[in-house]
Amino acid sequence: MVCNIAVIKGDGIGPEVVTEAMKVLDAVGAKYGHTFNYEQLLMGGCSIDACGEPLTDETVAKAKAADAVLMGSIGGNTSTSPWYKLPPEKRPEAGLLKIRKELGLFANLRPALLYEQLYKACPLKEEIAARGFDMLIMRELTGGLYFGKRSTTEVDGVTTAIDTLTYTDKEIRRIAIKAFDIAMKRRKKVTSVDKANVLDSSRLWRKIVEEVAKDYPEVSYEHMLVDNCAMQLVKDPAQFDVVLTENMFGDILSDEASMITGSIGMLSSASLNETKFGLYEPSGGSAPDIAGQNKANPIATILSAAMMLKFTFDLDAEGDAIENAVKKVLEEGYRTGDIMSEGGKLVGTDEMGSLIAERI
Ligand code: IPM
Ligand code: MN
Repeated sequence: MVCNIAVIKGDGIGPEVVTEAMKVLDAVGAKYGHTFNYEQLLMGGCSIDACGEPLTDETVAKAKAADAVLMGSIGGNTSTSPWYKLPPEKRPEAGLLKIRKELGLFANLRPALLYEQLYKACPLKEEIAARGFDMLIMRELTGGLYFGKRSTTEVDGVTTAIDTLTYTDKEIRRIAIKAFDIAMKRRKKVTSVDKANVLDSSRLWRKIVEEVAKDYPEVSYEHMLVDNCAMQLVKDPAQFDVVLTENMFGDILSDEASMITGSIGMLSSASLNETKFGLYEPSGGSAPDIAGQNKANPIATILSAAMMLKFTFDLDAEGDAIENAVKKVLEEGYRTGDIMSEGGKLVGTDEMGSLIAERI
């Protein structure tokens, strides 16, 4: 199979971790007889530096023309980087939000599972970690507070900033369907997370989720308030299978979920539209503090490449091969700094990538 992949390495640790994911993909290509063609595109801070804007029309057009996008991370240190002196719509993050919108990537899948080998890196109490967990956060990605109208105005010396949280029934329905569909392939449970005791958008969310649930009699579902969910994630993460939620709640809960897996450096993600196209990126950020030091954990990006093989290219065996290689390397005790614990063998970004590639 020939796979045309647009590659956005981005900023911070992005280039380092994506390079390792490409190394692993090439190992898959060699073993299973596939060709991965890469076209490197700019987005984020590096695009601001080179082209004066975080996302050019050229990047959007080339990303759309590819079969999938493999991405690293964008952005820099928000206190010190000159990118954050620019108006908000010219900053690196604006590029990411725009590409999500332009490509219609409304469904963001963020799996959070605790690898047996990483129990020691899990910050939860031992008896909770011992039960393990394997959940998938289905985050709505192109609506809500991120894309509602916003403004900052000053009237009579009073400055007011407004952000609006908007959802239509159609937007809720399509993400709910994605969640229930994927639950059918997992443990058949959906926890829909909202703030229906306060927000109108959440009350509509609940109503539509209930309608969608009727079409999936085999899937058990429940509603959970977001504050309670934040608590349940550290109290009893094993209870979750598919967690369905809106954009902002999903952003926050997925960082929390990643931390209990041991490190945000383990969490992959896929952003999908209605077709087989997807953008695959680690859930973590650009980590400017460790950029260029060969310290970043490339596993989240490598696992994102595995998601790409499965979702976009239907190469399930190849995706499994990557996941198994990751498990093997962890079993053998190799660790990047973020997941290091006593007795582990500390390796850098590139060595971790090579070890995984060699085990394909
Ligand atoms: C993420 C990131 C982005 C988001 C930022 C960089 C805009 O935190 O993908 O979770 O908030 O969606
Ligand atoms: Mn985030």
